[in-house]
Amino acid sequence: MSKILLATEKPFAAAAVEGIKKIFTEAGFETVLLEKYTDPNDLIKAVADVDALIIRSDKATRQVIEAGKNLKIIVRAGAGYDNIDLVAATEKGVVAMNTPGQNSNAVAELALGLMVFMSRGNFKGVSGSELLGKKLGIHAYGYVGKNVARIAKGFGMKVYAFDPFVAKEIVEKDGVSVVNSVEELYSTCQYVSLHIPATEKTKNSINAELMMKMPKGATIINTARKEVINEEDLKKVFAERPDFKYVSDIAPVCHAELLQYENRYYSTPKKQGAETSEANINAGLAAANQIVNFLKNGDRTFQVNKV
Ligand code: 3PG
Repeated sequence: MSKILLATEKPFAAAAVEGIKKIFTEAGFETVLLEKYTDPNDLIKAVADVDALIIRSDKATRQVIEAGKNLKIIVRAGAGYDNIDLVAATEKGVVAMNTPGQNSNAVAELALGLMVFMSRGNFKGVSGSELLGKKLGIHAYGYVGKNVARIAKGFGMKVYAFDPFVAKEIVEKDGVSVVNSVEELYSTCQYVSLHIPATEKTKNSINAELMMKMPKGATIINTARKEVINEEDLKKVFAERPDFKYVSDIAPVCHAELLQYENRYYSTPKKQGAETSEANINAGLAAANQIVNFLKNGDRTFQVNKV
């Protein structure tokens, strides 16, 4: 009987866990649960005899992958798979997948919520400003970016996007204006919402040059990854621009140093973009179905490494 480990340091909603177990029971598989663990060694131990692994932001390091003697597939129930050591997975012949699009609405709703929070003076009852008519730049037009555009248009924002990997026509069909460079996006838009993955190319790529280009009242919303912001530059920009705001769902390393910029800086206490029961169910069940389809039929849709 195939054994599947659901390892979530940040557990899914109970309904998602039940749904995942049901899918595996019907497939004749056994589900093993490892939730709220704090020691990475617990994951290393738990993966030892399983055939498949579902994770969220949990780290599938080389050590984890090598400890999984029977491991055939890892599914990141979510979008970003920078937490999987893809080189190690490929070397060990382990298939890695994500579940694109499944939690994107949840993240997009949070991005807009954070935007409102910042524009309305952190809900402290002071006079703020409205989003209507303001320019929003979407940095990377994937599933989350597309949902952010849809909701922002409901607020009456003017939406722009930059994504060299998505055809102009696809973006324009959504009523979103395409800009030709990342510099143009930042110099055009007062609000910029980040949706780029954390890769060797994108890490530290949001630098002072881009941040300083933004128009008055500049606000960057980060529901992507903390690593994409150049933190030394972020601190510099905060010190130089009294109008600059940064709101994040993933606290930067320099969080404590930014707390002095009350009302201009905010980070959620714990990453919560995908923390809705709907997103948990969508991503969790998709991950479970992908594992069943792979183990039973060899289906490799959504594979992100080359094995
Ligand atoms: C993702 O990449 O899907 C999001 O960042 C959500 O991550 P989480 O599952 O750890 O909440």
